[in-house]
Amino acid sequence: MRWVVVGARGMLGTDVVARLERLDEDVLALGRQDVDLSSPDSCAAALAGADVVVNCAAYTAVDDAETHEDEAYAVNAVGAGNLARAATAAGARLVHLSTDYVFDGTATAPYDEDAPTAPRSAYGRTKAAGERAVAESGGDHLVVRTAWLYGAHGACFPKTIARAAHARGALDVVDDQHGQPTWTVDVADVLVRLVATGAPAGTYHATSSGATTWHGFAQRVVESAGLDPAIVAPTTSEAFVRPAPRPAYSVLGHRRLVEVGVAPIGSWDERWAAAAAAVLAESEERV
Ligand SMILES: NC(=O)c1ccc[n+]([C@@H]2O[C@H](COP(=O)([O-])OP(=O)(O)OC[C@H]3O[C@@H](n4cnc5c(N)ncnc54)[C@H](OP(=O)(O)O)[C@@H]3O)[C@@H](O)[C@H]2O)c1
Repeated sequence: MRWVVVGARGMLGTDVVARLERLDEDVLALGRQDVDLSSPDSCAAALAGADVVVNCAAYTAVDDAETHEDEAYAVNAVGAGNLARAATAAGARLVHLSTDYVFDGTATAPYDEDAPTAPRSAYGRTKAAGERAVAESGGDHLVVRTAWLYGAHGACFPKTIARAAHARGALDVVDDQHGQPTWTVDVADVLVRLVATGAPAGTYHATSSGATTWHGFAQRVVESAGLDPAIVAPTTSEAFVRPAPRPAYSVLGHRRLVEVGVAPIGSWDERWAAAAAAVLAESEERV
């Protein structure tokens, strides 16, 4: 089976390629220089011979998207649609990555895969438009939403927190946003298992189980970095305003994974314990 990974040098894409290579799969890893997502012809050429396409490419600068929504839309919506149509034409399955930001964050129980989307940020609007573009392409496509990603191969919350904790000795971190810190290695594993089981087309949620706040996660990160978690003080979103509104509640349910027999990812704290050394290695070197 031939896999094509688009966005292969991003934080998630790198781990998806690594997972496939470990499984001895035939994988073509494509970066920005290899495929122009704005061009249907370039997408068609890039996907020739593919059986499965994983789209990890995205405009992911959530705050910058507030003032550059057109640029984000070009990648996250138009690019996703071009890839989806090229995958359909090639007879390939597309696994398209999406996000908790498609929801409004006002829920009080985990979002079902079928819950209505209502993005509050520019990034969320472009990703929701990407989901629609993929659905409208008419092919055999899996939309996999994830959230609060961290990994060894990109900038992410735990690296920032560990560096800041070492440098400053005390930190304020928001305690009123709830979500599921999720390791890119675990998402890569879910994607591969979804394809291996022949999961039906549709939307799936690939996040860790359980939930915490950024403050709760930061305490664990600081502990893993060898410091006292008490140096992390709770603060509020109101005191820490960002250009893009953050969902207050980003917990995703895993009903559809269970229905197709793919075990959801373990609890966020147990998975962080497994990931911490690999993820923090680089930030410790730079302290
Ligand atoms: N990070 C999170 O917390 C998070 C949460 C929920 C969902 N997601 C979703 O998960 C997926 C992977 O995210 P990530 O964190 O791995 O993102 P990332 O590290 O920012 O990687 C995104 C990749 O997309 C590539 N890309 C951007 N614009 C492109 C273009 N016009 N043409 C081709 N490639 C382009 C980037 O290439 P360059 O390196 O050359 O810029 C980069 O390799 C995305 O769909 C994202 O929306 C992420």
